[in-house]
Amino acid sequence: MRMILLGPPGAGKGTQAKILAKKLNLAHISTGDLLRQNVAAGTELGRQANDYMHKGLLVPDELVSEMVGNRLKERDTEKGWLFDGYPRNLKQAESLDALLERGKIDLDCVIDLDASEPVIIQRLSGRLACGNCGANFHIKNMPPRKPEICDNCGGRLYQRPDDKEETVKKRLEVYKKETAALIEYYRKQNKLQRVSADLEPDIVVDKILRLLKKK
Ligand code: AP5
Repeated sequence: MRMILLGPPGAGKGTQAKILAKKLNLAHISTGDLLRQNVAAGTELGRQANDYMHKGLLVPDELVSEMVGNRLKERDTEKGWLFDGYPRNLKQAESLDALLERGKIDLDCVIDLDASEPVIIQRLSGRLACGNCGANFHIKNMPPRKPEICDNCGGRLYQRPDDKEETVKKRLEVYKKETAALIEYYRKQNKLQRVSADLEPDIVVDKILRLLKKK
């Protein structure tokens, strides 16, 4: 299975991707996580990406496509993969198509997580992320057992700098201007399935799994 999770910031792509990757035994490839790891490690890529991420802008396509190309060379992707946060615009989608065509690899399915704006704002304003393992929590919707401590690894939870109100607004603008066009792009390829993401996480997972079974 090779699939993409599309959707606006805060739709729950990361939350769903982690559950689906485990259930379906897929490599979970989150470009946001990969970029944050590079920022934290102080690599040249992280240094170049940091400013864009802080402003809620997309990191330049060449940097992201190279990072994705390298990630797809890793062994664990042979069992199948799930992209979370990539592609993010038409140029990235075309570059992924070209990469898959060269490798004679088929993309099976694109799931668009359709979330409403009030839900997105509520989710991002309360998100807590683990600085150590990357797990996501929410102050109200999915609180950690101990305040500020990750249930999985005991790491310290923090608010992502790009979850500040002004940056969230920018990220939503960028989504509408650049990423939303991918819904039509994949609909034309007959790969798109839409799922309402405003529901409880377990219900969203079930809906996705049911759609995948039909394929
Ligand atoms: P990225 O990390 O990809 O951020 P995003 O797309 O804005 O998505 P988020 O991680 O904010 O949200 P999500 O949909 O994963 O929701 P989550 O599951 O966490 O990208 C960050 C930045 O990196 C970009 O702005 C850009 O600068 C750069 N970047 C990344 N990829 C790029 C690319 N391809 N090209 C260029 N630049 C790129 O959930 C959110 C919260 O809601 C959590 O607290 C969670 O606990 C809660 N929640 C989730 N689901 C539910 C539910 N069903 N019910 C209740 N609460 C829920």
